[in-house]
Amino acid sequence: MEKIKEALKKAKSQNNAIQNRVVQVKSKAAVSGLMKNDNLENSIVYAQSKVIKLDSATLEDNRIIALNKSNPASWAFDSLRTQVLQKMEENNWKTIAIVSPTPEAGKSVVSINLAISISQKPNKTVMLVDFDLRKPRVAKYLGIKSQKSINDFLSGDAELKDVIVNPGIPKLTILPTNKPVAQSAEILSSGKIQELVSELKNRYSSRIIIFDLPPLLNVDDAMVLLPQVDCVLIVVGDGQHSESEILESMRLLSRSNILGVVVNRAEVEERSYY
Ligand SMILES: Nc1ncnc2c1ncn2[C@@H]1O[C@H](COP(=O)(O)OP(=O)(O)OP(=O)(O)O)[C@@H](O)[C@H]1O
Ligand SMILES: [Mg+2]
Repeated sequence: MEKIKEALKKAKSQNNAIQNRVVQVKSKAAVSGLMKNDNLENSIVYAQSKVIKLDSATLEDNRIIALNKSNPASWAFDSLRTQVLQKMEENNWKTIAIVSPTPEAGKSVVSINLAISISQKPNKTVMLVDFDLRKPRVAKYLGIKSQKSINDFLSGDAELKDVIVNPGIPKLTILPTNKPVAQSAEILSSGKIQELVSELKNRYSSRIIIFDLPPLLNVDDAMVLLPQVDCVLIVVGDGQHSESEILESMRLLSRSNILGVVVNRAEVEERSYY
């Protein structure tokens, strides 16, 4: 933890744009807990997108806990939501990418929980796009088995409207990727993806659009997409990345608007009532 803080501190002095807002998301023990089915029943009918009901046990197994207000970890996501929305509203930003230096920091888990948390706020609608074309996990973690996905859109077998899924949570839609895509960096820099992103931005301009991306280091995917998004949230797994990996990531993000850093898997004291 200290090492990450130190690296973040050093990186911050090199990059004044960094807003050092740190939200700690508690470890496995804290994110487990009973899901309430009632929360999932609350679906609304979408004109075009398919409604796929979620299974509470699958969500819990995959640490998708933002619906479960009796789970203390959901507070962390609500607090993250407040900070993210505040900054986005101040700047009129609508699109946000979730990145990390190296794999397995918890980007997909954070993306989904953040999307759910934002959708629960009055007057906020959210779309979550799985642009980790190497290791797509959004559909898996939500337990969504949709027939059409970004894969079909890319191959020309589906239109955008056929790919959008509503997971039975009001004001939340998902653009899932069902299987890995070869040459993902090239695909992400292609005209087709650029058109898709601008169509999403234009057609759904009132929505917050969250992009779940692959890690920053060693693969180009995130870097080719970042120029198209308004801002970036960095997820670091507590103790998972070296100082040099964090600094290199900050360097790669020097042209991006960095919203802040989520320290995931943090070992923190149990929270008192307040
Ligand atoms: N706070 C946490 N405590 C314990 N385990 C966690 C936590 N957050 C995520 N995990 C687990 O870590 C694994 C990786 O999480 P996730 O898939 O969200 O990471 P990622 O950064 O998206 O990975 P990748 O770079 O491969 O896309 C999953 O098994 C997830 O359940
Ligand atoms: Mg992921």
